[in-house]
Amino acid sequence: MGKSQISIGLLGFGNVGSAFVNLLESQKSVIFAKTGLELVVTHVAVNDLSKDRLGLDAQTLLTDKAHEITVDPEVDLVVELMGGLLPAKDVVEAALQSGKPVITANKELLSKEGKYLFSLAAEREVDLLFEAAVAGGVPLIRVLRESLLGEPVEKIMGIVNGTTNYILSQMEEKAMPYNEALQEAQRLGYAESDPTADVGGQDAASKAAIIAMVAFGANVSLSDVRFEGIENIKSVDIAFAKRAGCTIKLLAMVSKHGDELEVQVYPAMLPKGHPLSAVRDSFNAVFVEGEALDSLMLFGRGAGGMPTASAVLGDVIDAAINLSKETYRDMGDLNEISLLQGGEQKSAYYVSVQVADEPGVLATVASVFGENDISIQTMEQEGMEKEARLVFITHEAEESSLEGVLTQLSKLSCVEKLGTVIRVLEA
Ligand SMILES: NC(=O)c1ccc[n+]([C@@H]2O[C@H](COP(=O)([O-])OP(=O)(O)OC[C@H]3O[C@@H](n4cnc5c(N)ncnc54)[C@H](OP(=O)(O)O)[C@@H]3O)[C@@H](O)[C@H]2O)c1
Repeated sequence: MGKSQISIGLLGFGNVGSAFVNLLESQKSVIFAKTGLELVVTHVAVNDLSKDRLGLDAQTLLTDKAHEITVDPEVDLVVELMGGLLPAKDVVEAALQSGKPVITANKELLSKEGKYLFSLAAEREVDLLFEAAVAGGVPLIRVLRESLLGEPVEKIMGIVNGTTNYILSQMEEKAMPYNEALQEAQRLGYAESDPTADVGGQDAASKAAIIAMVAFGANVSLSDVRFEGIENIKSVDIAFAKRAGCTIKLLAMVSKHGDELEVQVYPAMLPKGHPLSAVRDSFNAVFVEGEALDSLMLFGRGAGGMPTASAVLGDVIDAAINLSKETYRDMGDLNEISLLQGGEQKSAYYVSVQVADEPGVLATVASVFGENDISIQTMEQEGMEKEARLVFITHEAEESSLEGVLTQLSKLSCVEKLGTVIRVLEA
């Protein structure tokens, strides 16, 4: 049995770091009663030493030299809550090198450097835990690594970005245009002043890469993930989806197709009967399908200081217990798994096209789908004085065939503008 007091070096005292300290303080005696371990934040690193640090014990050593904490022999375990790739990578690497378990909430770091850091942790025989890096307070990683360890998981579909889910919910429920919904999200603190990583899909793509590593043992990094965001979704698309009994969600999709793995992020129309379609506001949810388990959904707060701190604390307790038992748990090998390429993927699609309102246009446009072997499920036409909007829902088609349709349509003189193209999923 190792030591019963665990000294924590905390790197970062922002939203999550400060909530973590508060939560640990309030739960300290409960944790001690349940585990026999006393967890104490002894060292904290920040960027700017001149800021007020409410909630920090006077005995806590505060520094702006994060690296020193990672190599301090008095620190047993390091919690990285600084964010970003650098210097987070260097300090996490240094902590692991000096044999300290690391807990991080940093999706960017793990989606870019996960394979290296996981193998370093295994080599040094220490934990590297990251529950909070995907879907904040939703305990997805532990469920995948522990409860579903023996499950033949087939598909994981997640709403893992609260900002975009909030925007899409506002657009649907209050008929708000995209820009207004984005501003509202910024006003409420759900979106950053530069929202690109959220609305452009990159944040969800980082999480998809991490899910692929954990659930399928696949060596996937952010650069392997194809992603689209929600910037092109218009009120008319949302209104159409509603009429068709669907809702539009930004999905992280990690799914097995034979020997290949699909790891992608895209907006999709989901029928109202799908459990994910009911996930509103800034909530996150992850839907897992497995051969034995059938289906399972986890739902909760994907961001926010306290929900994220809750996930971090769970990891800290796990790592502290392991440390006291002189054990750890590694991620296993990450293997090269071939990723499904865009062109081969099949889906039904929603395609909207702005055309000149002239006789024969509908037949001309519809024939382009047929020429590319795509059959049409439904079609709708809305007149707009001299222009009209045609909306098609196709049957399942390969992405490469759809690209053929779009290229051909863009060359037609009657086509004023190609509108939004969105995948349509089944319930
Ligand atoms: N916020 C959420 O809801 C949420 C949800 C899930 C995951 N996460 C992840 O949690 C992590 C932390 O997020 P956050 O929202 O708490 O960020 P934050 O509020 O921006 O806090 C970052 C903290 O790191 C410190 N820091 C930055 N660079 C540093 C450096 N070079 N050396 C030492 N300290 C440094 C900052 O110091 P100063 O205080 O001096 O500026 C600040 O205390 C990120 O990886 C994020 O992706 C956050």
